[in-house]
Amino acid sequence: MKQIQLGTTGQLVSSVILGCMRMNGAKDPVKVIETAYENGINFFDHADIYGNGECEEIFADALAKTSLKREDLFIQTKCGIVPGIMFDFSKKHIIESVEGSLRRLNMDYVDALLLHRPDTLVEPEEVAEAFDELEKSGKVRFFGVSNQKPMQIELLKKHVRQPLIANQLQFGLKHSEMVDQGIHVNMTDTASIDHDGSVMDYSRLNDMTIQAWSPYQYGHFEGVFIGNEKFPELNQTLEKMAEKYQTTPTGLASAWILRHPANMQVIV
Ligand SMILES: NC(=O)c1ccc[n+]([C@@H]2O[C@H](COP(=O)([O-])OP(=O)(O)OC[C@H]3O[C@@H](n4cnc5c(N)ncnc54)[C@H](OP(=O)(O)O)[C@@H]3O)[C@@H](O)[C@H]2O)c1
Repeated sequence: MKQIQLGTTGQLVSSVILGCMRMNGAKDPVKVIETAYENGINFFDHADIYGNGECEEIFADALAKTSLKREDLFIQTKCGIVPGIMFDFSKKHIIESVEGSLRRLNMDYVDALLLHRPDTLVEPEEVAEAFDELEKSGKVRFFGVSNQKPMQIELLKKHVRQPLIANQLQFGLKHSEMVDQGIHVNMTDTASIDHDGSVMDYSRLNDMTIQAWSPYQYGHFEGVFIGNEKFPELNQTLEKMAEKYQTTPTGLASAWILRHPANMQVIV
């Protein structure tokens, strides 16, 4: 398993993250965790909202049935989305969300906390206070963001003292706008549109790790593109290359992300 330097932490972690969003659909969660770990994945991604909290609980129950030690794992969770209502980056919500995650995960601390999706009403001073309190109490080691563009990160950085180590963004062979715009600079086609404030260049300049979410999906959870007849040319190429490199189309779709020198992680 390829290891990457996580942001500015100096910590080496697996380049593949096990995403736990679908943990409530796993037939055998113990086997999922053990298989991931045996294959070199020591990084697990959660969010307070996954399965309305059920995914964190299922993970904790399953983890207790393995022989894995907490200190050998990197546990990340996210907060800030309030299902069906809004986004909430208030100090109160951030702290209560982390406490809820810790209770469900049956842990004293998480290694990283990400702000899940931008809150229009964000008050960076409140985020800073929440992060300070969570760091001081030892409940969170590192902080980061998800789905945020450079200027939103800069706004947070005006008040937040801790380095923001990661940005979780959708990225994959069928969601490649982050790199497309760099190839189409100064052209007039749609691929030249900068959708994200050049977040990939910004991440590299600021040593923020990009964590690629939903790497095998097209659109916004429309489905998996691998083996999908809607994308014959892409699948023919993937199959041809998979044969050449003795791997699977899924392996290739992951390697495509990890080949990028931005030092990314892929969340499978
Ligand atoms: N920050 C954010 O806003 C955000 C948003 C979404 C997700 N995430 C994170 O990203 C993680 C991954 O997201 P995701 O589950 O949507 O991504 P994904 O890995 O692209 O999709 C996984 C789904 O695709 C199915 N699938 C079908 N064929 C597949 C193939 N050949 N290879 C792999 N999967 C195949 C899987 O089925 P099986 O279940 O049968 O394997 C599963 O239902 C989540 O767990 C979460 O941690 C973050």
